[in-house]
Amino acid sequence: MIVPMAPKVGPATERELRPHYGYFFICSFHSILRACAAMSSLVASFIAIAIFAGRVANAQPAVSLLIDNGYPSSGTLNIASVLTQVSAKKGQTFHFGSTYDTYDADQSWFDSIFQTFFKHVVSENGCKWDATEPTQGTSDLTECLATQSFATTYGNSFRGHNTFWHSQTPSWLPGSFSASTLVNTIIPQHVQAEIQGMGSSVTSWDVVNEVVGDGVSNGMTALQCVQNKGDWPTVTSDGSGTPLVTDLSFIYQAFKTAYTYAGANTRLAINDYNTGGQDAKTACVIAVLESIQANTSIPYDRLAIGFQSHLTASTGGFYTKSALASTFSTLAALGVNAMITEMDIEVNTDNTANLRYQAAIWGDYLDACLYASNCNEFINWDPRDDLSWRGTSAAATLFDSNGNPKPAAYEVAARLQNYAAGNAEPCATSSGTSVCTITGTGSTTTGSSSSTSSTKSSSSGSGGPTGCASAEWGQCGGMGWTGCTSCASGTTCQEQNAYYSQCLPS
Ligand code: XIL
Repeated sequence: MIVPMAPKVGPATERELRPHYGYFFICSFHSILRACAAMSSLVASFIAIAIFAGRVANAQPAVSLLIDNGYPSSGTLNIASVLTQVSAKKGQTFHFGSTYDTYDADQSWFDSIFQTFFKHVVSENGCKWDATEPTQGTSDLTECLATQSFATTYGNSFRGHNTFWHSQTPSWLPGSFSASTLVNTIIPQHVQAEIQGMGSSVTSWDVVNEVVGDGVSNGMTALQCVQNKGDWPTVTSDGSGTPLVTDLSFIYQAFKTAYTYAGANTRLAINDYNTGGQDAKTACVIAVLESIQANTSIPYDRLAIGFQSHLTASTGGFYTKSALASTFSTLAALGVNAMITEMDIEVNTDNTANLRYQAAIWGDYLDACLYASNCNEFINWDPRDDLSWRGTSAAATLFDSNGNPKPAAYEVAARLQNYAAGNAEPCATSSGTSVCTITGTGSTTTGSSSSTSSTKSSSSGSGGPTGCASAEWGQCGGMGWTGCTSCASGTTCQEQNAYYSQCLPS
């Protein structure tokens, strides 16, 4: 069944940020999960085609990337040890990962990529309400636990998504329950069963997902922000507009229950899209968070805001790095964590300029998280293009449909290496070269981001980023070289002169 969601009437920038999130297939999880996932993907493709047909391709700005400046842009990527170094530098585990469900195609690719690139798992669909309580009162964590077990097998951490959402609900919801039954029985029972059942090692839970409206304006109260959403349970299921629940008790109850049953270190998040900057929707999410704290007494240092970050690689399709940094620091002042929870970036056409632009935006979002004291989870939604909920043609992920790394994957690896090496934060490269140019041994900027050039000396065979390998014919050493000092298999690093070593066939 295709269920049209409430029309989005937000400001232009918000619509731009998330252009085709209008329809979902609502499925019974156990019966037709595979078919449903495939159909959803087809619909996503269809909608994408419908929306972008006739749209003129934007000329993307030329961007300056770390992969142009000494970091590898080809060859095998293995960032597992770099992620360990990032965590050491941050003084807290940095969870970098992607989505997985056991029905995903190409299991052997998943087995490999969750050892070498992603080290953190989120179940794409397996922990949602339709999957975990298909029959009222009967908790079924089969798929959710299976994805967690996959994570454990490869030494990955696991995050929970989600315990409450108006979408992907079981067929018995919304039903005709009273507000009191929903708030005092159905929600707490579900949240308890899921959070208790998944255990205390879950890094964070999206306790409520997408509760804030798209048409919000500055100054709205937390309740107004949620009522603006126009979805169950603040409207009846038939869309008549008569509220079922007239306050935020359903959110408070979900959080109180989560706090009671989650592990002592598990962060409890409110997760939403089109958020991250100094805009009305982000202000609303913060207002709801403050209201949760005031009404539940959960300490701020157990709370988090998840920024989904479903983006497009075009002007207005993403937040600037400085806007993100400012929001993250507002949250840090409260003790609240900021998390990038569902990052993907649609490109208009899968060409070199767009893929480089995509790489720059990805790098900037990652930097915003890396260099913030309160951001330690970064999840990429769907690990490769052919599995993306945004459709294959959106080319919205880090790996192409053959599972090969795209420029964004190399740039992400480079930003992680750059951070782990203790280098200064690069300027906002998605702004384009006119305001941001990265140079060889660090970064310089003429833009507004706080960045200084940094230097690190290295000679052939030492001092470069670890866990990476330069491709055949690529540079692998030399005075001032800061890139990989290992070579792809079948090649050896050979010094040509003091300034240049190259990966040559063995
Ligand atoms: C998407 C999944 O990726 C799809 O497979 C599914 O058909 C629909 O949901 N925001 C969320 C995620 O919080 O749960 C959504 O995931 C993407 C948008």
